[in-house]
Amino acid sequence: MIEIKNLVKNFPGRRVIDGISAEIHDGELFSVIGPSGTGKSTFIKCLIRLLKPESGQIIVDGQDIAATSSEFTLARVRRSFGYLFQEGALFDSLTVLENVAFGLKYLTDIPKSEFPRIVREKLALVGLKDVEHLKPAELSVGMKKRVSLARSIAAEPKYMLYDEPTTGLDPVTTGMVKDLITDMRAKLKITSIVVTHDLNLALEISSRVAMLNGGKFVEVGDPAHFRRSENAAVKEFMEISHLSRK
Ligand SMILES: Nc1ncnc2c1ncn2[C@@H]1O[C@H](COP(=O)(O)OP(=O)(O)OP(=O)(O)O)[C@@H](O)[C@H]1O
Ligand SMILES: [Mg+2]
Repeated sequence: MIEIKNLVKNFPGRRVIDGISAEIHDGELFSVIGPSGTGKSTFIKCLIRLLKPESGQIIVDGQDIAATSSEFTLARVRRSFGYLFQEGALFDSLTVLENVAFGLKYLTDIPKSEFPRIVREKLALVGLKDVEHLKPAELSVGMKKRVSLARSIAAEPKYMLYDEPTTGLDPVTTGMVKDLITDMRAKLKITSIVVTHDLNLALEISSRVAMLNGGKFVEVGDPAHFRRSENAAVKEFMEISHLSRK
């Protein structure tokens, strides 16, 4: 379980995260939504300490990582996370096999001889076969997303962080990524945190949705609760997302 208590993160001259508290339970699919520039990526980066918060606690399985300076602790906690980056960047000069095995090499003690088998297994989970020898330039956008996802689950993380997983994708690929996210949760029991400005996606796949506005979670609840929210920021966001309240 992840417990976030009074999280605060500033950038020079600006407070982006202004006292967020939340509990993310094992097995949940928790989405954070909000317009561009509200701090969604900042929030998710704090969770694995790619960014160091000003104050507050981030307790991952009982261990507070918000302020620790122990590289050992950070490395151990980071190993329990997979991260699908907003840009999804694969290493262009590496093959699919090398890309997917990247985390295995740096995060685990798994012997190199095991890599091809593990990579094949993870590629199969995201619906790919016989692509290990290809370079990213030879893949379609949808295939790249699948390979990025295979890479983030290669070391079998307990938690998955998805930053804008569907942004910039066509409707068919968006549907595919949506299915992959729900699949990962169902097949691997991965606790998932999705940050997105796609309210439609969030309401469709999440167990709970949080709206980030003005540095705070102004609404948190299951999709049904969320659709009925009386919060002004949520109502406005539903309107611009062309969603009717139910
Ligand atoms: N490293 C940084 N240094 C200074 N300011 C930053 C940095 N990273 C983000 N910001 C600022 O913090 C705010 C939040 O950025 P963030 O990337 O978290 O937003 P976001 O909600 O993920 O946006 P998007 O939907 O466009 O991805 C923005 O105003 C951004 O300019
Ligand atoms: Mg972002």
